[in-house]
Amino acid sequence: MDKKALERIAIELDTENSLFADKSYLDNLNLVSNVIIGREDKAKELARFLMGYKKGHAVPFISVYGRSGSGKSTVVKFVCTNLDEMLLYRFVNLRKAKTVFGCANLILTELGEPNLKSAQGINLAIEKIGQAMESALKKEGRKLFVLVLDEFDVLFYDKRGKPSDFIYKLLVMEEKLREKGCLVSIIAISNNVMADYDVDDRVKSRTGSSEVFFDAYTKQDISAILRDRAARAFTEPVDPSVLDYCANLSSLVHGDARRAIDLLRVAGEIAGSKAEKLAAKHVAWQWNSCKKTGQILCCQLHLII
Ligand SMILES: Nc1ncnc2c1ncn2[C@@H]1O[C@H](COP(=O)(O)OP(=O)(O)OP(=O)(O)O)[C@@H](O)[C@H]1O
Ligand SMILES: [Mg+2]
Repeated sequence: MDKKALERIAIELDTENSLFADKSYLDNLNLVSNVIIGREDKAKELARFLMGYKKGHAVPFISVYGRSGSGKSTVVKFVCTNLDEMLLYRFVNLRKAKTVFGCANLILTELGEPNLKSAQGINLAIEKIGQAMESALKKEGRKLFVLVLDEFDVLFYDKRGKPSDFIYKLLVMEEKLREKGCLVSIIAISNNVMADYDVDDRVKSRTGSSEVFFDAYTKQDISAILRDRAARAFTEPVDPSVLDYCANLSSLVHGDARRAIDLLRVAGEIAGSKAEKLAAKHVAWQWNSCKKTGQILCCQLHLII
């Protein structure tokens, strides 16, 4: 390959992007969405659990669960960012951790604390987490600290690390902070309800009652999300029937907004590369190529299992 060949590739890729005004609206890693379509009921349930702080009560553990792409991370982040100025939150995605201790270190990093070595023990890690939350509340003059643990199920991959023990210790730490007048709520986001996880009774009894379930999106919900995104992402209005088609296909697996947004983005790239207006056929091409590569089949098998 020479420089000219690379220039040709760059020009080709520019054409793929020619239909887009701002592609970030179709970027699923860009979680800070300022516009949430629907989901007010879920935001309200969550807010109800959090706002008790005004009367001196913090729900220690809120479980947010539901299928992939149902808007859990987006809605939790949106509520924590916008609900109340007395609320201070940190959002920790545990996906990168491989062990329970790794999860503790990710939390410490998010709290601006140095990581610990596993030889220093989980008790010290939890103590440091508690101290960091307490001093952050004081420093910022806020009333409630919300620790969001996204992809919470990662904890349970580490059987030797005693995930149940870790959660119990976090809850005890919260109780101690409360005695000192520091209110903390943990929001655990995962695909499964807490009852599905192997946790001790003492954890179950402390975590059981505060849950927010995110049901999968309907075709209409997905269409509404796509209409909003398409209006911002493309230079030209997209035919609503194309968006509905995209929503219909995505709903064949389950109502997964992430999958639908991805489908629309790649269909837009295909149309752009052919210098055509975005149409249902571009969506169908991408959908069929996903089917061929097994992405959709895997998802369906996962559902059956
Ligand atoms: N109600 C909504 N309005 C606008 N965009 C949404 C909505 N719900 C989901 N999205 C978008 O869909 C994508 C997936 O949402 P999100 O990451 O919140 O799903 P999730 O339930 O956390 O999935 P997972 O379990 O796989 O982590 C994100 O790009 C998000 O911005
Ligand atoms: Mg998520």
